[in-house]
Amino acid sequence: MHVAVLNGPNLNLLGVREPDRYGTRTLAQIEASVRERATALGVELSWIQSNHEGALVDAIQALRGRADGALVNAAGYTHTSVAIRDALLAVRVPFVEVHLSNVWAREEFRSRSLLSDIAVGVVAGFGEDSYLLGLEALVRSVRSGPAAAR
Ligand code: DQA
Repeated sequence: MHVAVLNGPNLNLLGVREPDRYGTRTLAQIEASVRERATALGVELSWIQSNHEGALVDAIQALRGRADGALVNAAGYTHTSVAIRDALLAVRVPFVEVHLSNVWAREEFRSRSLLSDIAVGVVAGFGEDSYLLGLEALVRSVRSGPAAAR
């Protein structure tokens, strides 16, 4: 089983970016934890981060036929990107939307996601654990078949 993790803009600055909100763990440290959990679950993992919407669309298109599932933290693009939504619809890879912060407890515009209604589920507000919980839930859902997930 292959799970792809996609990280959107500004997540490369984790550790220095608004640490009160996002914590002090860097994206590389989060990646190491997620890789460790993936290995324990018997899952092969790929990991990308991009600040560019088109690069994220390309990365999603490349998942077709290659990934069994994805964890998606589209960051700011979560709230704005029709193109990322369309790419996820096109490849039909089951995905879990993850956020470090609780997006519903923040500015109003973050309450709207263009991705959540087409996701298997959403995990938000647990910092790095959002990725770990999202991975576990995604793997369980994919292994038990599409019907069990919804
Ligand atoms: C975020 C939440 C988004 O609203 C924000 O734009 C981010 C990070 C999170 O992980 O909490 O960049 O996706």
